[in-house]
Amino acid sequence: MSTKLIQFSEPGKFEETRFEKIHNVIFDSSDKASIIVAQEIGELIKRKQSEKKHCILGLATGSSPIKVYEELVRMHREDGLSFKNVVTFNLDEYYPMKKENIQSYHYFMHEHLFNHVDILPEHINIPNGTVSNKDLYQYCIDYEAKIKSYGGLDFQLLGIGRTGHIGFNEPGSHLNSGTRSITLDHITRVDAAPSFLGIDNVPRKAITMGVGTVRSAKRIVLMGWGISKASILKETIEGNISSQVPATYLQDHDNTTFVLDVDASSELTRIKTPWLVEACDWTEALKLKAVVWLSELTKKPFLKLTDKDYNDNGMSDLLSLEGTAYDLNIKMFNKMQHTITGWPGGKPDADDTYRPERSDPEKKRVIIFSPHPDDDVISMGGTFDRLIQQGHDVHVAYQTSGNIAVSDVEALKFAEVSKVMNSKESNVIIDNLKAKSGNEVDSIEVRKLKGSIRRSESLAATRYLGLKDENVHFLDLPFYETGTIKKSNLSEPDINIMCSIIEKVKPHQIFAAGDLADPHGTHKVCLDALFAALEVLKHHEQHKYMDDCWVWLYRGAWHEWELYEIDMAVPMSPDQVLKKRHAIFCHQSQKDGVMFQGDDSREFWVRAEDRNRLTAKKYNNLGLADYEAIEAFKRYHY
Ligand code: F6R
Repeated sequence: MSTKLIQFSEPGKFEETRFEKIHNVIFDSSDKASIIVAQEIGELIKRKQSEKKHCILGLATGSSPIKVYEELVRMHREDGLSFKNVVTFNLDEYYPMKKENIQSYHYFMHEHLFNHVDILPEHINIPNGTVSNKDLYQYCIDYEAKIKSYGGLDFQLLGIGRTGHIGFNEPGSHLNSGTRSITLDHITRVDAAPSFLGIDNVPRKAITMGVGTVRSAKRIVLMGWGISKASILKETIEGNISSQVPATYLQDHDNTTFVLDVDASSELTRIKTPWLVEACDWTEALKLKAVVWLSELTKKPFLKLTDKDYNDNGMSDLLSLEGTAYDLNIKMFNKMQHTITGWPGGKPDADDTYRPERSDPEKKRVIIFSPHPDDDVISMGGTFDRLIQQGHDVHVAYQTSGNIAVSDVEALKFAEVSKVMNSKESNVIIDNLKAKSGNEVDSIEVRKLKGSIRRSESLAATRYLGLKDENVHFLDLPFYETGTIKKSNLSEPDINIMCSIIEKVKPHQIFAAGDLADPHGTHKVCLDALFAALEVLKHHEQHKYMDDCWVWLYRGAWHEWELYEIDMAVPMSPDQVLKKRHAIFCHQSQKDGVMFQGDDSREFWVRAEDRNRLTAKKYNNLGLADYEAIEAFKRYHY
């Protein structure tokens, strides 16, 4: 019997539409969603226990299931959930891959689940990445047969890759494929590159259960978190079944649920353009979203949209609510117009009724939080410059040292220079670097050197923009200092450091990275650290200044706000674009072939310029003034 409707029936949370071909549920956060998924697994294990049967679970690795495993471990420890009747089959493993390698899925599963529950070791099955080439074919057939010998999978947990893979069934995989070896898609290798410290270390092959193996599971739950999965999830849920997006094969499975967070669902038609699906509750934010969409669709500026444009595109109810296209167009035009300001710290002595920032106090204290030591200039270099030029008391706080993003080659260069200058530590560092193999963790000394390189580069940039050194703060938040891609969780010392810099500066404005799509999640952790600090400080007698502190979120290198989300748009002249470019150039260790590029091969300064020019172009297309470039911000109300 299917338990999915019982487990996921949150009233109002799921509405299947004519666009959607897979049952899906959207949750506010991936944490909450993961707990629900873990509960379903827990219930299944208990039901099988009461029937005195094995519970056969197909398990996934990667970032998506981490919280599910965390919750299962909690249920084992605190609620006494036993795994003695559980038999697991993991979806996949890199090939070749040693079990003890920290990048292996064998290691991952033990680290996140198996070492912490009472599962019997003989019940754990993970494809073996050390099988010889000649035995591989038979090994895969045996893996498949072993699943069948248990009567098949009761439950299969899945993530989805940006290629649309499930397991490692890359585009081209066959509907009835079984367990086999496969060549990884380039995008999959790019996504895995950070944890292997570079794409060259990522294996080219893997062993994976087939699409047929997965589809034979009695129940399938696929998790999708974050904006980077949004477009492949739309294709999977709304597109046609195609071997080019193997996850679409799940459309034909009758007991599959996709569990999504808000960001991952953002491209679904019912979320992105709800007016095409049903009658809407027209909030002011939704009106702007819809009219921006209509203007982009029709390629007409706001002021040229007609009644017919609205009626033809599912917005007749909006039109009857607002009167005529003429009235609505002007209203939306003014709304966007009011986001534009050349005075990001507020314009002195001006009527600020329709301005994004207050004019008072004329000179503001400002903290720019930068997760890595270059996001400040990459993401808001133009605004940073203006704030200084307009006389505000600007401070920049670099939240992490950014040391892992300095290559060994770069570090060796600096160590050799310092050796010439007779630095004692340089010999140790040079020996460390030369002896280091592949993706080994750096020694403390090497990390210190790499962190110092990034500090000096940051100071070069802030000096170039005219900021005093004493206004530059290096927070070195402890959560980051693991020496590896995997970071620790936020803890009290991180929050305390954030609170103390805010207490020290008593800012009227805080700028922070709301850029949640960076590859290692550091931006998100840094933002969570800020939110936690704001929680501690707000509404506190001792911190009255917080009542006057506005928070602005920027995005930059990886992602940009949608037009309808922007609350402040700061235009840049051609000269300011050049100045920003030079400030980014100061971060030399991140130029010309950076370590963590993501799948965008453009350098950071090019990405930033392209993005800022595109925002300006989009404003212009709406019928607003034609600027060279624009930096965009969204206000965060706390
Ligand atoms: C992992 C697996 C993959 C991942 C997918 C998403 O065992 O088979 O299909 O589920 O690549 O990875 P994350 O969750 O890291 O985004």
